[in-house]
Amino acid sequence: MRSTPLTLLLSAFLCATGCSDGGGGGGGETGGAGTTGGTGGATGGTGGATGGTSGVTSGTSGVTSGTGGATGGTGGGDATGTSGTGGNDGPAVRTPAASASTLREAGEKANPPILIGAAISGSGLNDNGYKSVAAAEHNYVTAENEMKWNALEPNPGSFSWGSADNIVNWAVQNGMQIKGHTLVWHNQLPGWASSLSGATQVEQAIRRHIENVMGHFKDRVHTWDVVNEAVITDSDTGVGNPRMRPSVFFNALGERFLDLAFQIAREQDPTAKLYYNDYSIDARNEKADFVYEMVRGMVERGVPIDGVGFQMHIGPPNNEAGGADVAANLRRFADLGLEVLISEMDINRCSNQVTAEEQLTYYHDIVEACFLMPECVGITFWGINDGRSWLNSWSGALCNGQSSQSLLFNDQYQKKETYNRVMDALLGR
Ligand code: XIL
Repeated sequence: MRSTPLTLLLSAFLCATGCSDGGGGGGGETGGAGTTGGTGGATGGTGGATGGTSGVTSGTSGVTSGTGGATGGTGGGDATGTSGTGGNDGPAVRTPAASASTLREAGEKANPPILIGAAISGSGLNDNGYKSVAAAEHNYVTAENEMKWNALEPNPGSFSWGSADNIVNWAVQNGMQIKGHTLVWHNQLPGWASSLSGATQVEQAIRRHIENVMGHFKDRVHTWDVVNEAVITDSDTGVGNPRMRPSVFFNALGERFLDLAFQIAREQDPTAKLYYNDYSIDARNEKADFVYEMVRGMVERGVPIDGVGFQMHIGPPNNEAGGADVAANLRRFADLGLEVLISEMDINRCSNQVTAEEQLTYYHDIVEACFLMPECVGITFWGINDGRSWLNSWSGALCNGQSSQSLLFNDQYQKKETYNRVMDALLGR
């Protein structure tokens, strides 16, 4: 259950022997290095090409694309290594802290550090128990609902910052980073936005929203979910007929709404980390494969995407994913020269589709999969305590008002066994 996935050991070994070469290629200022890498093998070519693009903005990607070159074949790794200029030869694996008394401390003391996040709700911050556990155990915050389009722009061009500012200011006061969630999403839109139509109208609305929101939070928010959940399958588990999701954005602009959103976001902030985020893409399945190709296309087109968030909602209504499968899946995205992160983790026990024992194993092994990869920059849990979990009342989660028992703390804010398993993984146990 706690063994290191073979894929990770293998890539760590390959990286130890070939990473500095390929990593240099990853830092190349142009995609030219990747062209050379392409002769080394299919995967190496990809790693080289993408590393060449993203190495300019992200030091981590030097490590990442180095692995791509190494796995793709000697030709790719060697050839790119000599021509790269800007790569960061960071460590090929993450080293855990010797000890820690909070998750946050374990994340901060790891080398390289890893962000430990939680979805925070405005109502939660009225509860002292919630507040103190949230700040003690986490150093990364996602507003659970308060930065969505319906909260921030209830009327066209008229913005409402109060609830989001409360969360963001609380996070800053507690030395926590913030991920803006989310700039473009089909869900939780105000009525006026849902009824937009025509390319010009929709493009103007996207631009106005991103400019205003990123502008307002510019000094406090440096990472963004730019586009959320643009892909759909017949089943919420990520299986069946993967395709672009119909939405007000896709219907008006086609797939180019993705590129557009990232380009506008980059214009607003040249150094922010810009992420694509989705659910049930946590291990390999049809949806994950589709998103992989979609993101690979964006990277190849030079769209300014820095990473992919894997929501990691495990259990109904979403997918189940074992640690080794998650590791292999995250690895291929990282090999595109991207950061990866676990962005909304919870594990739903409702209807016993995930047993208590499976839940503990998943928590440990999935956190371990991310922790072992330096390119995996953060792990965010979708809430603090079970009683406040969104799953309890989410249709499809099969809870019918019962507790999903999905998180790390009970309603008295005591640590559950799930917490201990997460801590074990963060400490390399
Ligand atoms: C959820 C919130 O937790 C709920 O309170 C709200 O009713 C619906 O949205 N994927 C996402 C999150 O990206 O924004 C969702 O959050 C959960 C699924």
